[in-house]
Amino acid sequence: MYLPQEIIATKRDGKRLSKNQIQHFVDGIVRGDFFDYQATALLMAIVLNGMDPEETTALTEAMLHSGRIENLDAIKRPKIDKHSTGGVGDKVSILLAPLMASAGLCVPMMSGRGLGHTGGTIDKLESIPGFNINLEQSMYENQLARIHQAMIGQSPDIVPADQILYSLRDVTGTVESIPLICASILSKKLAEGIDALVLDVKCGSGAFMTNESNARELAHALVGISKSMGKPASAILTRMNQPLGCAIGNSLEVIESISCLCGNGPKDLMQVTYELGAEMLRLGGICEEEDEAFQLMQNKISSGEALSAFRQLVHAQGGSTQVVDDTSLFSRSKHSHSYIFNGEKPAYISEIHAKYIGEAARILGAGRSHAKEVIDSAVGIYLNYKVGDFIKPGETLCRVDYNDSNKLVHALDRIEKALSFTTEEVVIDNVIIERITD
Ligand code: URA
Repeated sequence: MYLPQEIIATKRDGKRLSKNQIQHFVDGIVRGDFFDYQATALLMAIVLNGMDPEETTALTEAMLHSGRIENLDAIKRPKIDKHSTGGVGDKVSILLAPLMASAGLCVPMMSGRGLGHTGGTIDKLESIPGFNINLEQSMYENQLARIHQAMIGQSPDIVPADQILYSLRDVTGTVESIPLICASILSKKLAEGIDALVLDVKCGSGAFMTNESNARELAHALVGISKSMGKPASAILTRMNQPLGCAIGNSLEVIESISCLCGNGPKDLMQVTYELGAEMLRLGGICEEEDEAFQLMQNKISSGEALSAFRQLVHAQGGSTQVVDDTSLFSRSKHSHSYIFNGEKPAYISEIHAKYIGEAARILGAGRSHAKEVIDSAVGIYLNYKVGDFIKPGETLCRVDYNDSNKLVHALDRIEKALSFTTEEVVIDNVIIERITD
């Protein structure tokens, strides 16, 4: 039996917590025996003094077992998921679930909503008329057995410890801690009943980790802790300095995803999708070599099988498949106006600051500043040009879809702040920085 103040004092003094102390702390939080101020005191002590890999594994394990853990053993295909640490214009999950299902994997994907300047997969999918992200457990399992993919929101009985701890971290300045981030992400992903996990750890101006070495440290920690819990994992470190692809905003991003599945995806978005997909196929034992995996994915797109798998997913979850076949029917038609942002002088684009573009989209109504805000799925920004492109005066750099002209004024401020130009040619860094495997 441990007193909460003893556990807090141990970490405050920079000492290790035992597995039992960590388990007792997590149980106390979930049962309501510990007060929020005790939980946040310990969280702050962890932010300041860290946790070693054994402590982080113990925390992940205790959080994982705080709720229901899916058992997908009846599904014979390899069950592999992907998680991204979040960015702007990141619609890779929407591409990967059908692409991987068509290539022989099973993808049980539970995703989050967007908060702040980053978008959330669930919000994007909900822009498809009728798409249901709340499947009951039996429907979810049946769908996985039948079409090998499901994309749903976080169920409340999965990792309740994270729901309590994350909401406290969000308002007490205790999000930025590698052990806390690892335990939060991995407990939720491992509760899905997966065999292996691929992580897209983003760094840059639009990412949660702006600094490359911190992102690398997080990627290594995630891969190491997952492995220590018996789940093979890989991480791909990717750049998030400019938005990924061209579309930012919920329905715009689904439309862009459909276009990618038809074989017309922008280069950076397809590079990240293929790199993560190749790692999922490797961990699932479908392809050994990257070249073979790239070939398989390209074939699935050019044959139309990946798009057809997406149509199956939308149909299975109650969404309108008509919008998949004709994206002009999309709720995008619900935006009332478009503002065209033109280039003024001949110049190369040297920066499209991802965070400012994400903020502009949020201001338009595509995202939330607090969890209860209602989003407008039709608004957003479409970039006709990306960093390194040359733009002539009068050419359209981007289109801004909006419904409220007051919001537009503030959003345009952010877009202007996001853009920088130069007369010199721009060297573009590869969007893929590094692959970290176990
Ligand atoms: N995403 C999560 O799910 N948890 C964190 O702690 C940070 C990002």
